[in-house]
Amino acid sequence: MTTVAKAPGEEITAEQIAAEAPTSHQKLIDFVAQTAALTQPDEVYWVDGSDEEYTRLTDELVEAGTLTRLTSPDFPNSFAAFSDPADVARVESRTFICSEKERDAGFTNNWVEPSEMRSTLNGVFDGAMRGRTMYVIPFVMGHLEADDPKFGVEITDSAYVVASMRIMARIGTDVLRKIEELAESAPEKAFFVPAVHSVGAPLEPGQEDVPWPCNDEKYIVHFPETREIWSYGSGYGGNALLGKKCYALRIASVMARDEGWLAEHMLILKLTSPQGKSYHISAAFPSACGKTNLALIDPTLEGWKAETLGDDITWIRPGKDGEFRVVNPESGYFGVAPGTGWHTNANAMRAIAKGNSIFTNCALTDDGGVWWEGMTEEPPAHLTDWRGNDWTPDADRPAAHPNARFCTPIDQTDMLADEYFEPNGVKLDAILFGGRRKTTVPLVTEARDWNHGIFFGATLSSETTAAAEGAVGTVRRDPMAMLPFIGYDAGDYLKHWVEVSSKADPEKLPKIFLVNWFRRNRNGGFAWPGFAENTRVLKWIVERIEGEGQAVETPIGFTPTPEALDLTGLDVSAEDIEDSLKVDRQEWAAELADIEEWFARFGESLPASIQAELHQLRQRVNP
Ligand code: GDP
Ligand code: PGA
Ligand code: MN
Repeated sequence: MTTVAKAPGEEITAEQIAAEAPTSHQKLIDFVAQTAALTQPDEVYWVDGSDEEYTRLTDELVEAGTLTRLTSPDFPNSFAAFSDPADVARVESRTFICSEKERDAGFTNNWVEPSEMRSTLNGVFDGAMRGRTMYVIPFVMGHLEADDPKFGVEITDSAYVVASMRIMARIGTDVLRKIEELAESAPEKAFFVPAVHSVGAPLEPGQEDVPWPCNDEKYIVHFPETREIWSYGSGYGGNALLGKKCYALRIASVMARDEGWLAEHMLILKLTSPQGKSYHISAAFPSACGKTNLALIDPTLEGWKAETLGDDITWIRPGKDGEFRVVNPESGYFGVAPGTGWHTNANAMRAIAKGNSIFTNCALTDDGGVWWEGMTEEPPAHLTDWRGNDWTPDADRPAAHPNARFCTPIDQTDMLADEYFEPNGVKLDAILFGGRRKTTVPLVTEARDWNHGIFFGATLSSETTAAAEGAVGTVRRDPMAMLPFIGYDAGDYLKHWVEVSSKADPEKLPKIFLVNWFRRNRNGGFAWPGFAENTRVLKWIVERIEGEGQAVETPIGFTPTPEALDLTGLDVSAEDIEDSLKVDRQEWAAELADIEEWFARFGESLPASIQAELHQLRQRVNP
């Protein structure tokens, strides 16, 4: 689209920006001009989202050494990127919710007084884009044709971010035109979230750039009241692609609270039974706990069909007929690569094989492709690892970073459901909450009712993964898999879940289930084969939706009897099934103590009805 370049020794002025802007939308022009004045880029470039632009930007990124063009025919039109080794994951300790009142950020978020944070940001962003191009990316989360489209404009000094945003969201001229149109016809709908991103690495004249510029100092900041995002110092997806976690979860959760809907960390799966009846199921699992895999499941039971609508983020809105409707606000996958393979997730592999992808921190093969642990059963004999070193299978380190990612357009998925294209979403039938627990939590448990289901979500726990900085493998509570993404007070968030049910017909409320694919058996291995075999759990869930399926009432909810799970053709021992389904009173006594400590942290804001669920559980575990 249009570019404004700075004259030597001068700065780009607001007048120049206004004169060259491809829009007359004053708010947007002002936002761009103010950001340029602060960050002092060499150029301002308005992203149009076209194919030519993508080609040009990726060519430039190859030239700069940020991207490596893959030459293997297995990865057409695809690129590999390698981050700075210190910029490989989301940085939760540097993520802030700067609400006006500290109380409104709640105990799960880092809070800094907004004016103090603004002055810090003014400091770090001052001249942050010197020597670089400032890209302006108009984007929409969800469909442009939605009743209430949610717009954003990301300003970034990273072309890698522009290329990735083009895969992950609908961006460019069409979005800009829609914002302008609504600014005329329905101004309240033309609002856009201003989102500013800088890698925090200005270039002095003549200074050579590095392939992955970033800064040791990082800030991922959200101002919930003014719906603003400021991200500094990182180029990694979750920190830099601001439409994703920052907008579609943290800021959107606040919008959702105010407007009566839910923004959740969930996949959406459409499942069709052999009888031809379809169900839409959303599932919330913490990062790197199986969302993308379940979203792309290949059913192992005869006659069952799975199609996907989304793998990471779900917006749940009350519909006109008392149902909840779900929509995926994204247009791409930003999936964990390791563990994604032809034998575990062939649907993801088929989407990836169509190309048009950006891989980050994967290993390079000698024939110009990428590889990661779990892609194939045997690793290639030689690789270049994600840090650029020679790698052979006897190396004692992984070839790809454990949080290596593929970024791939969702419409390349063969099993994409037609409903993905529904601007206002589809009816939701069931919600799954799940985490990674070696013990205690059975394979699947059905909640007695909506409130009990919220209790499942409120007490959801998981062993930590490589998706965020910090130790891997320690159990932490992760309410609704939203711990790092709730944009306001966690107790208020649970209260909103309780209250939002009043927007639906009680008969049409989704059923809620707790699942755990990761429980260990008596020998320390996985008790349940997982992956595609999770079809068998989904079948039981569908049976329960239909009021069928055998279940026993345990202290924690309804679990299937071993006979109730369809294990046809599955090679799994009776002991393993027992280990995966059991509800152990001793384990639950320890769990109760942990949940009590967890709930104590909410203080006054824990809803009474959720506290009451804990009381009931205590009585059921220790009658
Ligand atoms: P997401 O970040 O929540 O989308 O998680 P992914 O679907 O990308 O999976 C993260 C990791 O969990 C990968 O290494 C997967 O191989 C692994 N995983 C996913 N589903 C299962 C399962 O059912 N069983 C086991 N054991 N591992 C799984
Ligand atoms: P995910 O999150 O692990 O839930 O896919 C992506 C991220 O780390 O930003
Ligand atoms: Mn994922």
